[in-house]
Amino acid sequence: MSISIPKVGLGTYLISNQELKQCIPAALKAGYRHFDTAQVYENEKGLGLSLAESLSDQNISRKDIFITSKVFTGNESWGQSPMSYLETLNSIETSLEKLQVDYLDLFLIHAPFCQNDRVDQWAAMLEIKKLGKAKSIGVCNYNISHIEEIKSAGLPLPEANQIEIHPWCQKTELASYLKQNNISIIAYSSLVPLSNWRAKEGEDSSKSTQMIADGKKSSSIFKVMAKKYGVTEAQILLKWAVQKGFHIIPKSTNPTRIEQNIDLDSFEIDLPDLETISSLNRSDVGVAWPSGDPSMMN
Ligand SMILES: NC(=O)c1ccc[n+]([C@@H]2O[C@H](COP(=O)([O-])OP(=O)(O)OC[C@H]3O[C@@H](n4cnc5c(N)ncnc54)[C@H](OP(=O)(O)O)[C@@H]3O)[C@@H](O)[C@H]2O)c1
Repeated sequence: MSISIPKVGLGTYLISNQELKQCIPAALKAGYRHFDTAQVYENEKGLGLSLAESLSDQNISRKDIFITSKVFTGNESWGQSPMSYLETLNSIETSLEKLQVDYLDLFLIHAPFCQNDRVDQWAAMLEIKKLGKAKSIGVCNYNISHIEEIKSAGLPLPEANQIEIHPWCQKTELASYLKQNNISIIAYSSLVPLSNWRAKEGEDSSKSTQMIADGKKSSSIFKVMAKKYGVTEAQILLKWAVQKGFHIIPKSTNPTRIEQNIDLDSFEIDLPDLETISSLNRSDVGVAWPSGDPSMMN
């Protein structure tokens, strides 16, 4: 049985502990129940604090929200040692402490960098689930061969894979493989085609000028669609992902956009427009990671 993840969650990459104090109450009021963080975002503490306060203020119980965090298990090419089984197993403790909870709803391996240690690290994730410290476990940025590696080791498969997917990077083969294997897809960086995506200083990505130039054509398509449905371009991109059956986690620190990004029920993208969006796919290589798409790793 696949896990039950709220359809729209709040992404928190590049949101500071301080900013979360405003974003979390606004997001809860707007109806968000899924919050996505990671140990490397360095905002688990702020998220935990803001959630503790806002849940009590808004009379919402812990069991009604869904918290995802991720462990970065190392990358030798950045000079980091891969985490051992035990280090991976223990890594959840810091997340639990900072988030002020006794379990996570979903705990993910952040990237498949550790070629020789990946299976051991996955075995530790299975133990974390067995101990009840995470209700569900999964991975991010895994491609088919990474999942097949787990299969070959005879271990249970991840319950979710968080991957970059948007109209420019649709990963159709991977998406259908994940569906066949009952692995939920959490799509990140859904808003890449927008011209203001991570455009503030310091919000690095590998979205190249070429991609931005190429994107102008498809951006105008989203503008036309937004006008047709009486919504924003961001809502077109997010609704497309939802209609494809993906869970989404748009990030915003702007209260109006936070509301807008979960307000997706008033319209349905029709079949011809869905086909037009399918035709905009240009590569399975994403742009969100400044150092290159980790799903391309061996
Ligand atoms: N597992 C992984 O490796 C991985 C990698 C990347 C991301 N993620 C997760 O996925 C989340 C979402 O991805 P993301 O942060 O890369 O990108 P995103 O959510 O697709 O886009 C965020 C960008 O779009 C802007 N934006 C948000 N809503 C908007 C709207 N309605 N209209 C116009 N602009 C809007 C934001 O600016 P403002 O804040 O100013 O609104 C920001 O610049 C992350 O926060 C993180 O939780 C995971």
